[in-house]
Amino acid sequence: MALQKKGMHGSWASRWTFIMAATGSAVGLGNMWKFPYVAGSNGGGAFVLIYLLCILIIGVPVMMAEVLIGRQGRQSPINSVNDLVANSHINKAWLSIGWFGVIAGLLILSFYAVIAGWALKYIVLMATGDLQGVDGTSASSVFESVLADPIGLIFWQTVFLFFCVIVVMGGVKKGLGLAIEILMPILFVVIFLLFVFCLFNTNVLEAMKFLFSFDLSNLSGRSLLEAMGQAFFTLSIGMGAIMAYGAYMPQDASIGKTVLTVAFFDSLVAIISGIIIFSIVFSTSGLEPTAGPGLMFISLPIAFGNMTGGLLVGTLFFVLVSIAAWSSAISLLEPSVAWLMEEKNLGRVNANLLVVLVAWILGIGSVFSFNIWQNSMIFNFTFFDFLDFLTSNIMLPITGLLIAIFVGYVMSPKIINEQIGFKSSIKSIWMFLLKFIAPCAVSVVFVAGILDKFSNG
Ligand code: PHE
Repeated sequence: MALQKKGMHGSWASRWTFIMAATGSAVGLGNMWKFPYVAGSNGGGAFVLIYLLCILIIGVPVMMAEVLIGRQGRQSPINSVNDLVANSHINKAWLSIGWFGVIAGLLILSFYAVIAGWALKYIVLMATGDLQGVDGTSASSVFESVLADPIGLIFWQTVFLFFCVIVVMGGVKKGLGLAIEILMPILFVVIFLLFVFCLFNTNVLEAMKFLFSFDLSNLSGRSLLEAMGQAFFTLSIGMGAIMAYGAYMPQDASIGKTVLTVAFFDSLVAIISGIIIFSIVFSTSGLEPTAGPGLMFISLPIAFGNMTGGLLVGTLFFVLVSIAAWSSAISLLEPSVAWLMEEKNLGRVNANLLVVLVAWILGIGSVFSFNIWQNSMIFNFTFFDFLDFLTSNIMLPITGLLIAIFVGYVMSPKIINEQIGFKSSIKSIWMFLLKFIAPCAVSVVFVAGILDKFSNG
């Protein structure tokens, strides 16, 4: 049975398609919406440095481990881990890696689609000129009225999920692979155009100063946890997506090189998005870099609404954000879809519809968090904030920790050697990071962050 399931979903056309697909998964709302506002509210430079360190010494090693498990199993994350556990006769508790990942992925998809829906709505608002000449008050009231309308939010969430279904329904080569080959070049061209626009029209130097001059006094336990949570979230690790994509990776591609390439592109896009957003914020009087989640949806429209050519650039910007979110969300869908196909004998179409239906229903909870459930709290969080905190700050670090320990200590070295197959010097650095640095760093930061959260409320 396991043999039949292996490879039943097909594989990427080439190593390059895997790189683009994993980059597509990695580059998303996390880079364009979350990174700038989280960096902004954590004081800029100090946070950015810690974040990049987390990517390099925790994110990359764990991501390699995740791709490795996927490529070894060649099935959905749950079944890939299942096979490894069964073949190595180890404790069944390790199965939680696959389950945790897929569940976190589904929870994330549910709220991710809601935020992506805002970006879609903003394409329309920008393109139709509704944001022309807005000031602080009117931009906030537009955003508030978008959030206050549950039916509108559900509409855009549904449109976004529909786009995702269309892609994932096509399968690995003709759906995901094809979409990625079209979307990623567009994404890079648009981000490049926006960057050039900012270079000539806005305050790029000020933005760079903000992002790169570090002041360690701004860092708290919570900023560390946020930096690590963000590193996991942005690389799409700890939630099955990268494991599922790894399952479709050609056998001859080097895991180390491909993962480093993906992490490089992902960090580049985060930094460039940060520069684009802050240079626009700094060139418009009255806007603060610490604006929080509204940074993209309130501050930027004010800037776009008041500069020459701003509406066109603004429309382009939200198209960019939507494409990035799209190429990420499909990777959140795939692990559960693949599992349903393997285990429940569902066809791709039905599996897709079922997963999206669950994400859609859960997503309505997030939609309501911004209006009718605004004041209903779970541990001081709205439903949306709760899911975000639970996934990014709890489930992902735990799954990441388990993956590091599993590959670092439990998995047979023979499999690791077969899969990694590169020069021993690099392998030993990776193993060192995976065995010692990643588990210690994740545990310490995780505990410190949770204590900080619950001591300060
Ligand atoms: N990495 C994506 C982002 O930064 C989010 C994501 C997480 C996508 C997990 C897929 C899986 O927006």
